[in-house]
Amino acid sequence: MMKNHAPYALITGASSGIGEQLAVQLAEQGYQLILVARRVDRLQALKAAISAKHSIDIVVYPCDLLDINARALFLEETRKWDIKLVINNAGFGQVGLFDTLDLAKETQMIQLNIEALHVMTRWFAERMDDGVILNVASMAGFIPTPLMAAYAATKAYVINYSRAANYELIKAKRRLRILILCPGPVDTEFAQVAGAKHALKSISSAYCARVAIKGIARRKTVIIPGFKMKMVHLFAKIVPTRWILAVSYRLQKLK
Ligand SMILES: NC(=O)c1ccc[n+]([C@@H]2O[C@H](COP(=O)([O-])OP(=O)(O)OC[C@H]3O[C@@H](n4cnc5c(N)ncnc54)[C@H](OP(=O)(O)O)[C@@H]3O)[C@@H](O)[C@H]2O)c1
Repeated sequence: MMKNHAPYALITGASSGIGEQLAVQLAEQGYQLILVARRVDRLQALKAAISAKHSIDIVVYPCDLLDINARALFLEETRKWDIKLVINNAGFGQVGLFDTLDLAKETQMIQLNIEALHVMTRWFAERMDDGVILNVASMAGFIPTPLMAAYAATKAYVINYSRAANYELIKAKRRLRILILCPGPVDTEFAQVAGAKHALKSISSAYCARVAIKGIARRKTVIIPGFKMKMVHLFAKIVPTRWILAVSYRLQKLK
């Protein structure tokens, strides 16, 4: 078989939900894949399903991104692949009163959603000349969100850090871009992991991935899947914060 010289897309959190769908659809676009998550059986099953349709190289890399040593080892390994797309997607949320949530779990959430994403963004921004780093945030990152206070704050970090860093890249005339995906509710394992159900109608992970890939192709800085969520974004910009807090609290209570 001839060697495939197509570039690689690296996806964290590829074992389920949005990450899994991004892997499926990026393979259709011709990317070779590096799939990262903890559940290796899921990653192997995904590799088998994609390999049955596309003759591309698929690297399964089981890694707990909270394990600083394992993460550093993985990043060293990435030097050997021609990576043009990095998707920092692994993340999770917690729902509940801010002063009653399990603090250890909450700290892990902050480490995964912020620290791991930050370290990976730095690593690749220092090494990639062109291509895209897509950081997965959330609509919650635009809105102070009672009953998901810390989760929403982690995503606010992702949005603000990525936007500012991307602006620096543009100013420095670099070809690399740091883009942000901001979904509203998506039908994945997220709600189950967060210990809640979605308060609003969710979109499918396939649709979310499709919009994300279109946004990457257009180098859209902030990618928001779905008309309703675009309206929420607009609403969040023009409505006083105290109103947003009240609506957001009501919605979160439904969870
Ligand atoms: N679903 C939504 O409503 C929604 C809305 C807005 C934003 N988001 C964001 O979208 C991203 C993907 O979430 P999802 O909805 O697709 O949820 P999901 O189905 O629960 O997927 C989360 C992924 O993250 C991985 N992960 C979790 N902890 C990890 C760790 N320590 N190390 C490595 N990988 C880890 C999981 O894999 P393993 O368990 O196998 O490690 C899984 O593949 C998250 O950043 C989430 O905050 C989701």
